[in-house]
Amino acid sequence: MNQTINSPFRYAGGKFYARKLILEHIPIHISYIEPFAGGASIFFAKNKAEKNWLNDIDEGLMNCFTIIRDYPEELIKKLDGEKATKERHSFYKNIFKPKNKLEKAVRWFYLNRTSYSGIMNMQNCFWGYGDKFSMRPENWPRNIRNTSKKLQGVMLTSYDFDSVINKAEDSSFLFIDPPYFNADQSKFYTHSFKKDDHLRLGKILKENSHRFKYLITYDDCEEIRDMYSWALEIHSKQWNYTINRTDDQKKNGKNGKKVNGMKVKGSRYKGKEIFITNYPSVFQRTLSFPFQQAFQ
Ligand SMILES: C[S@@+](CC[C@H](N)C(=O)[O-])C[C@H]1O[C@@H](n2cnc3c(N)ncnc32)[C@H](O)[C@@H]1O
Repeated sequence: MNQTINSPFRYAGGKFYARKLILEHIPIHISYIEPFAGGASIFFAKNKAEKNWLNDIDEGLMNCFTIIRDYPEELIKKLDGEKATKERHSFYKNIFKPKNKLEKAVRWFYLNRTSYSGIMNMQNCFWGYGDKFSMRPENWPRNIRNTSKKLQGVMLTSYDFDSVINKAEDSSFLFIDPPYFNADQSKFYTHSFKKDDHLRLGKILKENSHRFKYLITYDDCEEIRDMYSWALEIHSKQWNYTINRTDDQKKNGKNGKKVNGMKVKGSRYKGKEIFITNYPSVFQRTLSFPFQQAFQ
């Protein structure tokens, strides 16, 4: 059964546009883990493994995933009749005080779907919905139901990555997508990730390298290449992606030349990263029918 769907969330640093490139490098696995899940675009783009674990330190995000998994109809009911407007965005951002986990998920979902790039760090959470490029509220229920189906049986937690990597069972496959090394990610995320955290991650991955396979995606820089010089493979990768802006944002001149180290061409950007693996990752998918035939 094809279980490929899109993430329910818009997510800064999300890997939606790189999903094809990443899937090509993923080995066959029984247990799948994302310690830095964010919008989990890779989990949603691939078929489900037997065991699945999504983790992110952001409790609001993981609470929203949990409510979608366990109470989709209650969430849909609370969002029923909502319109995507600046007024409602401002209401959810500044006035609405959630009283329980369901209400927290309502606020999180509404703001994520209607904010620029889905940025949920409240200092940078601005109206960014456009009828032409955003999912319309009338389509939210279908998206929530599909997401809920895919999340059934998936373990959802909000720990620091450290506990997840230490507790990961042997022979799992981990897709590891930490915040960038060189960009100021504190603008996007609710928890900052400092140089010490990058070093901590490198150390714990090296220590656990014999236990399971992993693919790490990072910005391409000397420090990271040095930190992972012991890894088996490092591939440079590039892909194109677009960011749509509302008329307000265009007027305010946010079409800069460089955003987070990536070149901007109008609203088209180039993602440029490295994929680091501790296993031979090339041809994971190409070893299928046509390739095998050539060797018969
Ligand atoms: C680049 S994003 C992941 C994007 C995701 N792969 C996607 O496709 O949407 C990095 C994530 O790491 C999370 N994070 C930051 N510090 C963390 C920590 N110490 N432990 C676990 N997650 C953390 C952030 O909240 C953010 O969601």
